[in-house]
Amino acid sequence: MVGMTKRRKLIVGNWKLHGSIAGNQQLLQQLRLNLQALDAVDFALCLPYVYLFQGQQLLAGSNILWGSQNVSQYDEGAYTSCISAAMIAEFGCSYVIVGHSERRLLRLDSYDIIATKLLRALASGLTPIYCVGETQQERDAGMAEEVIQQQLLNMLNALDDDALERAKSLNIVVAYEPVWAIGSGQHASPQQAQLMHVLIRQLIATRDHALAQQVRILYGGSLTADNAHDMLSMHDIDGGLLGRSSLDAQAFTKVALIANALAHGE
Ligand code: 13P
Repeated sequence: MVGMTKRRKLIVGNWKLHGSIAGNQQLLQQLRLNLQALDAVDFALCLPYVYLFQGQQLLAGSNILWGSQNVSQYDEGAYTSCISAAMIAEFGCSYVIVGHSERRLLRLDSYDIIATKLLRALASGLTPIYCVGETQQERDAGMAEEVIQQQLLNMLNALDDDALERAKSLNIVVAYEPVWAIGSGQHASPQQAQLMHVLIRQLIATRDHALAQQVRILYGGSLTADNAHDMLSMHDIDGGLLGRSSLDAQAFTKVALIANALAHGE
């Protein structure tokens, strides 16, 4: 039996390719203020690399953690433009998104590369947010579960016993982001997402029961204040990974308030 543990909800923003020094300052200061009293939920923002320093300056000491949206599969060397996990960690990052579909598309990130990135993140003490999700085509072909299983097994197979222990102590996060729901305004139904989250938890349990209990599985894909209550009420949806709704202080705050109220049983 999996899924009976109470997990603290986690709301993460993924800014993608958005931001400016002046705009970020406003957004981060506003969020810092808006979220400071919300005590029952964890928050994080995944920023473009170039703004990690600014994020660290403006978020340190708040209840909002920060992270990057990607990491190199290399440690160091002649790899022009790459950013290593150790570099990211130097900016006080807690999280790194690994395997987002916008990186998987066009095979920029293959299964092997994603597995290596996962291990690099863990080795540097960063908590990976490991993304999985099927395309519309795969769903239409009745292959959604199979695709999620493959992507999840890629994660689990990459973890040797040491890495598994690290994944547990860093409290690795999984994000279910159906590709068809990302940026489309068409979110998965709460039931659709719940089913997938249960599948993900069950797959993790085949490897490690304790990890399956503790892992937070976020939903991502057109998650907004309008659907957050229904989505976050589902038993196995432990939070959200927000794209568009993380770029606006009001929109993110509304989702944060909903999550916090749910956590308080309201
Ligand atoms: P949207 O919230 O804009 O659909 O993006 C979701 C996403 O990809 C977060 O990583």
